[in-house]
This record gives sequence, C-alpha cells and structure tokens, in this order.
Amino acid sequence: MADETKDTLTVTDNRTGERYELPITDGTIRAMDLRGIKVDEDDFGLMAYDPAYKNTAATRSAITLIDGEKGVLRYRGYPIEQLAEQSSFLEVAYLLWHGELPSRDALATFQHDITHHTMVHENIREFIEAFRYDAHPMGILVGTVGALSTFYPDAKELDDPEVRRLQMHRLIAKMPTLAAYAYRHRRGLPVVRPDNELSYAGNFLSMLFKMTEVRYQPNPVIEKALDVLFILHADHEQNCSTTTMRGVGSSHADPFSATASACAALYGPLHGGANEAVVRMLRHIGSPKNIAGFIESVKQGEQRLMGFGHRVYKNYDPRAKVIKKLAYQVFDEVGKNPLIDIAVELEKIALEDEYFVQRKLYPNVDFYSGLIYESMGLPMDLFPVLFAIGRTPGWLAQWEEMINDDEQKIARPRQVYVGAGKRDYVPLSERD
Ligand code: ACO
Repeated sequence: MADETKDTLTVTDNRTGERYELPITDGTIRAMDLRGIKVDEDDFGLMAYDPAYKNTAATRSAITLIDGEKGVLRYRGYPIEQLAEQSSFLEVAYLLWHGELPSRDALATFQHDITHHTMVHENIREFIEAFRYDAHPMGILVGTVGALSTFYPDAKELDDPEVRRLQMHRLIAKMPTLAAYAYRHRRGLPVVRPDNELSYAGNFLSMLFKMTEVRYQPNPVIEKALDVLFILHADHEQNCSTTTMRGVGSSHADPFSATASACAALYGPLHGGANEAVVRMLRHIGSPKNIAGFIESVKQGEQRLMGFGHRVYKNYDPRAKVIKKLAYQVFDEVGKNPLIDIAVELEKIALEDEYFVQRKLYPNVDFYSGLIYESMGLPMDLFPVLFAIGRTPGWLAQWEEMINDDEQKIARPRQVYVGAGKRDYVPLSERD
C-alpha cells in the first residue's frame, strides 16, 4: 500500500546525514526553514541561491494571476480579455486596488477623485521646462514623479490609510499630466492644462495634442484604444518594476519616491522600453524580404527579437492577442502602419522556427503596442511613459498590499560572498 502523502519535503543533508522535514504551503517551502540545516552550531545555515529571483516567491498576493504555461492573465480573478472588452481603465484601477468591481456610485466617486487631482503645481511645470530640449520623456518622468514627493510631505505618513489613499489618487491622476507636459516640452509647445470634463484617456489626448481649438475632441476610437492599452498594462504581478516599487516601498519611502523608482526600472529596454525597441527593430528590418536574414542573426545570438519572450509566459501573451486586434481597429481609423506587415510576417516565421518553438518564445505585450502608439502620432520615446501611466494603479495596489502585509519587512536579500579574503591595506607609496 502506498505511503500516506504529506505536505512536507524531506531533505537529507549529505554533509551530515541529518534529515529535515520542511512544510510545503501553496507549492512553496519557506526559505527561512533552510536556515536550520547546518553542518555544526557555528554554521550560518543553508540559503537558497536565486539570482534574478527566477524561482523565489517574495510575497503572497491576491491581485494578479498569471499562468505562464497556459497564457492566462487575470486581475482579481477577472480574465484580461473580458476587462479589455467591457471595462474601463479607471474601473480596472479601482478593481486592482480594492479587490472588487465598484458599484455605480463608487465608480463615479472614484472617477471624480482621480479627475480632481490631475493638476500639478506650477513649479513642476517649470521644473519640466528646465530639462534639455531633447530630454527623454521617461527621464523627465522619473525625475518629476520623484519631485512630487517634495510637494506632498504628508505622503510620509504611511500608517494613515486616508493619507495613503490621497497619494494614490494623486499619482494615478497626475501621471498623464506629467507625461503630457514632458511631451509638449520636447516639442517646444506650451502645456495644455487638464480638462476635467473628458475621460481619463480623452484628457490625456487633449493634454498631448490640443492646439488652438477651444476644446479638444478626442477621436473616440483612439480614446477607447488608449484606454484598453492602459487596462492591458495595469498590472503584471511581481515584474521588475513592481518588485522595485515593493522593494523601495519596503523601506517606508513615500509612494512618490517608490513610484519614481518603479518608473526607473520600467525605463530599461528589457522591460518597458521594449515597445520602443520593437519599432526600432522593425524599421531596421525595413522590408519583409530582410526578415529571413534578421531571424538568422537572432539565432546566431547577434541580437534579440524584441517583443518576443517572457520570463513567465511560455505561451502567447494574452495581452498581445488583444493588442494585435486593437492595432487593426486603430489602423482602420488612422491608416495602416506599414510596419505591421513586417511584424505579422516576422511573428509567423518566428512561431514556426525551431529556435523560437524550442525556447517557447512568443510575442509579448510590446510586440504590437508600439505600432499602435506610432499610428496615434506618438513619438517612440513616449512609449515607455504610456506603459508607466497604465502600470501606476498596479504598482500602487501592490504597494498598498505590501504595506498591509504583516509578514513584509524591509527587503534585504542575502548574497554568497565570492570576493577576496581578509588582507591588509597597502599604502599608495608602496604599490607599483
Ligand atoms: N530573441 C531571441 N532569443 C531570445 C529572446 C528573444 N527575444 N528571448 C529569449 N531568448 C532566448 C535566449 O537567448 C535564451 O536562449 P539560450 O537558452 O539558448 O541561451 C532563452 O531564449 C531564454 O532566454 P532568457 O534570456 O534566459 O529568458 P529570460 O526569462 O531571462 O528573459 C526577456 C526574458 C528579458 C523578456 C527576454 O525574453 C528578452 O530579452 N526579450 C526581448 C525583450 C522584450 O521583449 N522585453 C519585454 C518583456 S515584456 C515586459 O517587460 C512588458
């Protein structure tokens, strides 16, 4: 008869012959339980070595579920496809934060609260104007989001849920304003103040594109597409920028400083900068006839196929599916982006190629999003900024969850020291 199964892991330490039984909860063992595994009393105890946290759960979270093998993404249990089709970005922001879809009244109040925090202090506008004329808008965003903390010293009162709530409203509300101001600065145009009668996405488009007209009327197709893109980017559990948000937040820095650090993490081309890198790559390829040569150089390891591959998804990124469809809706409205033909052909060839199949490399969220942004008339260096606007509610929901989690402490990983042993200082005069 088979032994009774138990939710434990039995480990034999072959250095000592000792056996240890470690509890398994939710498919994990506690890394701290390894500490009890020692060769002798003076031994520090066993640690797990996991560079880039590839197999380490650093939190329990109830916000977002990704099943990377099946290509599933859900916010608070709701499939991303349903939210993209039927919800709005602010409703999704509320959902991520509060855990439930809002009632009609709650949504109206939330929309009002966000809308009425869209303005930024005039000093912030002047601050943005002090950046060089060609400053990357993501650099401006990192700097100005951090600078916001100096305008709201109350944000340091992390123990007060009301104070936290206010900062979260401010951040969700002001990100588009900062992004649009950065864009206008780049173009040498005067800033456009927020228009509180417009939707979240509509107001953002107005702050970007309004010229001399009395009121900017957003194109409803573009407005809707932007809203959907924000929904698709709103959260993605413990990714690099969210982990940064939680890490900086764990030191009890104020949420503006923590969000600035998350923006900085998002800036990198392996994360939020990938959408920009995809468009650059497609332009570089230039024509479908050059795809075969390009794929070959990727397979030789000379470059990466940007917008492909993901640490978690080993299947088609469900967001990429929605975005591909959205791209054609936008092109019907504003005209086809010629790079789409190269992108579609590239995807087709890559999905059939042994190199990509074997490594389970599929298009990720960034593969098609840049093409939509470009068709909307947005410059490439604004793409990661758009990602940051969408991701802000997710960062904040994760930050709030961390603040309320009794198990969390200041983030402080361990290391395996591989440097020099103790040695004595040699004065400069005695060195060759
Ligand atoms: N093109 C070519 N080969 C790739 C790619 C790619 N885009 N991505 C991974 N590979 C290969 C690697 O060379 C490696 O092959 P090997 O086993 O022969 O060495 C294998 O696939 C595994 O790759 P890793 O780098 O170990 O995968 P990791 O999980 O560390 O990286 C990442 C994930 C960073 C997203 C990677 O796939 C990548 O660089 N993609 C391109 C950039 C990109 O699109 N980033 C956006 C990610 S989504 C987001 O942040 C919103």
